[in-house]
Amino acid sequence: MSSNDKAQHPSTGDQVTLQAGDRSVSLPLLRPTIGADCVDISRLPKETGLFTYDAGYTATASCKSAITYIDGDNGVLLYRGYPIEQLAQNSSFLEVSYLLMNGELPTPSEFAAFDDEVTHHTMMHESLKNFLGGFRHDAHPMAMLCSSVASLSAFYHDTLDLNDPEQRRLAAIRLIAKVPTLAAAAYRYSVGWPIRYPRNNLDYVDRFLHMMFEVPSEPLELNPVVRKALDLLFILHADHEQNASTSTVRMVGSTGANPYACVAAGIAALWGPAHGGANEAVLKQLAEIGDAKHVDKALARAKDKDDNFRLMGFGHRVYKNFDPRAKIIREMTHEVLGELGIDDPMLEVAMRLEEAALKDDYFVQRKLYPNVDFYSGIIYKALKIPTEMFTVMFAIGRTAGWVSHWLEQQTDPEFKIGRPRQIYTGADTRDYVARDKR
Ligand code: ACO
Repeated sequence: MSSNDKAQHPSTGDQVTLQAGDRSVSLPLLRPTIGADCVDISRLPKETGLFTYDAGYTATASCKSAITYIDGDNGVLLYRGYPIEQLAQNSSFLEVSYLLMNGELPTPSEFAAFDDEVTHHTMMHESLKNFLGGFRHDAHPMAMLCSSVASLSAFYHDTLDLNDPEQRRLAAIRLIAKVPTLAAAAYRYSVGWPIRYPRNNLDYVDRFLHMMFEVPSEPLELNPVVRKALDLLFILHADHEQNASTSTVRMVGSTGANPYACVAAGIAALWGPAHGGANEAVLKQLAEIGDAKHVDKALARAKDKDDNFRLMGFGHRVYKNFDPRAKIIREMTHEVLGELGIDDPMLEVAMRLEEAALKDDYFVQRKLYPNVDFYSGIIYKALKIPTEMFTVMFAIGRTAGWVSHWLEQQTDPEFKIGRPRQIYTGADTRDYVARDKR
């Protein structure tokens, strides 16, 4: 049995016994390939009448998955078993997308076929231009991306038989291929530039840069540092286990909704400032801080319990030691800033904030390190990607993870509609009172 098979079918080892008053129940312990064992509580309500409560699912596994593994205490992130550091060093985003979707690294011919297929699905339907044209000129590109991705289900409804593995695979390819096209179109609409069609002679990242930045009046010079940084960012953003947006994709997917609707829901979840929206929030906060000399004041506010101000781009739900992606991207941030010769006061604020927070007891004791969004925002700014597009950039990378989880879910033998329970805190049963008697 391969390690992936083991992850999909964790072994059931010991039992744990739960004592609730005079009731006792034995619950199976599930053992993953790596990581902590998990108590299977699915029999609990039937056998004891009890439910479990876990706000924010901090202690609950919602599915079995063979895609990504995180060890938050030791700063480990594996895609299909491969350490993120090795993928960042040696792979490309498109190869990582193949890996996430298919479970194995592609052979040269498998990669060539995948690349060719993605390349030939990058065009968007011409009438999507009209759809995007219906937005106000100042629409947020996340709003445009979310709705245009959802609209894809209206264009491909003839290939939405979810029982057909080939149609499912095709939908995943279309999403990986078309999200960058829609993202760039949303950006160009917001700045009033003509939409650029995807060019098949360019690779995934260059094609996206071309669709974003090429203007009719002059040829676009593609900088290798920019290309390398963007490819790296897409790799680092490609998947992150059962985070809020991926869980949303799975939750919507559990109802049998089509993959475009599921990914649109994931995009909506990603938008929040506690999740992918943090990279945009980081830059807004740096602008508010304004000057490196105000950094200490910002730190003091972040530590003040009477102030709900938080340092955006610091802290992580899972990584309580360091975020391995942040470590990789930090080096790239300094390389990009150095090679592009950027002299931007906001970036100076960022570097000063990073330095001060890493030395500050409050942040050190709570293990609040800069997360991937702190640095990705800075790189995007250096690459001249507008702030409103930051979360869109995250969505382009994460699409590979979303579609991989959606595909995995469709063949999960334990596939069930997601339906959490609650602790009801409302009024007890009471009788209706006529309006004139209230
Ligand atoms: N600034 C100041 N204090 C913070 C911050 C922060 N960014 N993050 C956490 N803390 C403090 C909390 O006040 C709390 O302090 P206390 O123990 O004295 O009460 C302690 O650190 C633990 O914080 P929690 O909120 O319990 O941590 P949780 O794991 O629930 O939250 C989260 C993680 C949401 C990422 C949080 O750190 C945060 O809001 N960060 C800023 C937003 C951000 O950068 N989000 C991006 C996450 S990465 C991603 O989505 C790709």
